[in-house]
Amino acid sequence: MVALDMDDEGLKALVDAFYARVRADGALGPIFNDAIADWTEHLDKLAAFWSSVMLTSGRYKGQPVPAHMKHKDRITPALFDRWLALWAQTTDEMMTPPAAAALQDRAARIAQSLQLALFFRLDD
Ligand code: HEM
Repeated sequence: MVALDMDDEGLKALVDAFYARVRADGALGPIFNDAIADWTEHLDKLAAFWSSVMLTSGRYKGQPVPAHMKHKDRITPALFDRWLALWAQTTDEMMTPPAAAALQDRAARIAQSLQLALFFRLDD
């Protein structure tokens, strides 16, 4: 298979493939399928997010921490490991090795900061 480019089109195709796997996953799937009513909108939002992260396009305007905080009662550290494993699998399959490594590195950092916000707050 030809690797996707690290551009808006490639990142959209990557995001689409990743969330297809997430939705089919026994542990992660139910959380996403319960939370997300409009998958077209969610996939466009996540493609804009990754475009902002990797291409500094500024296309994503949102607040990931409160979006995840809404689902705090269902999200665990083990689910983050599962999320990152699926992300690694999908990026390894669809991107060039350096692009996959960069995407995995960014995801791991963001997952770490989301987990700090979700699980290590002192005031709740
Ligand atoms: C949104 C679940 C990890 C990025 C969401 C939503 C859910 C979710 C349910 C929809 C929120 C709503 O509108 O109700 C999870 C779970 C994760 C996880 C279960 C792992 C256990 C991550 C990671 C990233 C990420 C690691 C980034 C690398 C986002 C973004 C949104 C989102 C950008 C959109 C926020 C917005 O509405 O602007 N996630 N997520 N998520 N997630 Fe995650």
